[in-house]
Parts: sequence; structure tokens; C-alpha cells
Amino acid sequence: GKSLKIAIDGPAGSGKSTIAKILAEKLSLLYIDTGAMYRAITFKALQSGRFSTKDIIDIAENSQIIFDKGRIYLDGMDVTEEIRKPEIDEKVSITASIPEVRERLVMLQRKMAAEQGVVMDGRDIGTVVLPDADYKFFLTANIEERAIRRYNELLKKGVFKSFQEVKEEIIRRDKNDAERECSPFKKAEDAVEIDTTDKDINTVVKELMEYIKKG
Ligand code: C5P
Repeated sequence: GKSLKIAIDGPAGSGKSTIAKILAEKLSLLYIDTGAMYRAITFKALQSGRFSTKDIIDIAENSQIIFDKGRIYLDGMDVTEEIRKPEIDEKVSITASIPEVRERLVMLQRKMAAEQGVVMDGRDIGTVVLPDADYKFFLTANIEERAIRRYNELLKKGVFKSFQEVKEEIIRRDKNDAERECSPFKKAEDAVEIDTTDKDINTVVKELMEYIKKG
């Protein structure tokens, strides 16, 4: 039905955003990338040179974030590419650890999900944002595989970092996300865990669709 809510959580490089996007398209649901929201706030804070906790909270509370046709707009400006830059990867878990920022973004996320059916991906969707989601998936992949995916993604964009550097960056971000006090990154008890290591995208999409068809 039109108002299905599907939650997809997973660590960096688990393939969750690629999978979520395809799933949303197949099911005619809106895709909401919640990581992009934390990234957008981080981007604005860095760009304005205001990066104290107080500043970041202020920015989170006074910014408009809109998703439209696969793009993300911050205060009317398309920031889809900017928010994927390495300096955002480095700083985003700071933004995401601030309770007031989370409170604000979770409120916006729930509002979006209340208005239409969604596939939402992130770190706390099944646990906090949409605990009553119709389906919850938790995607994983081993660290080597996740680092390879991320490394290739960066290469494509012309960002030349060593594989080791990329891998350490992912490990550091996962650790920060899992150890923060407010809504730490973890699998919801009732989420279906799917290991995407050595599986191509279509295989994973099929697997998820099987669960959804079964009801
Ligand atoms: O999914 P993505 O890698 O773009 O997320 C970027 C960061 O945003 C994560 O490392 C995490 O710190 C934060 N995040 C979060 N909760 C979410 C989604 C993302 O804390 N629901």
C-alpha cells in the first residue's frame, strides 16, 4: 500500500542507500536519506565557520531541509554533492552526537514519514525514528568490503585517499556512531539482518522484496 514505512539501517558502506533508493522506486515510496540531513547541517556549520555545539544546534533548528527528485536542498540550495565530501565524513559524527540536533532531525523525519509512504535509511530508523515501521532491515558487510566500496566511490569522484586511510576512517566513524550516548547506532531487535558481503545489488534488493511480498 501507499503508506508503507520501511526502515533500513546499517554502517557506512553497507550498501543501504543504494538499496533503499531502488526499493523506494520499485514500491513508489519516497526515499529519505537521513544521513544526508546530518551531513547538510555539518556542511552549513563548517561553511559558516561556526562549529561549536551551540552553533550547530542553532543551525539545526533554523535550517530548512527538503528532498526533491533525488536531490537535497538546504535553505533552498542544492547541496547534494557538497555533503559527500571527505571533510563532511570526518566531522558528521560530531553533529550526530548532539541530542538537540537529533531531536530536531528526528522530528522532521517523522513528519516526512507521516505524510507519505517511505523507505528511510540511517542508523536509528528502526530503533528510534520509526519503531513501528512495517519492515525493518539491518544491512551489514565486512569491513574490507565496505572499505573497498567507499574507496571506489571516492576514486570515481576524483578523491585520492589510500585504501588504508579510507578503511580507518570508516572504522572511526562506526565507532563514534555506536558509542555515542544519544541514540547509538544499533540493530533494532526486530530488524532482519542481511549481510551484503559478496552480494551484488540486485541480489540484495530481491532478498528484501521477498520479505516485503510475504507481508
Ligand atoms: O549514512 P551516512 O554515512 O551518510 O551518515 C552520515 C553520518 O550521519 C553517520 O556516520 C552518523 O554519524 C550520522 N547519522 C546518524 N543517524 C542517522 C543517519 C546518519 O547519526 N539516522
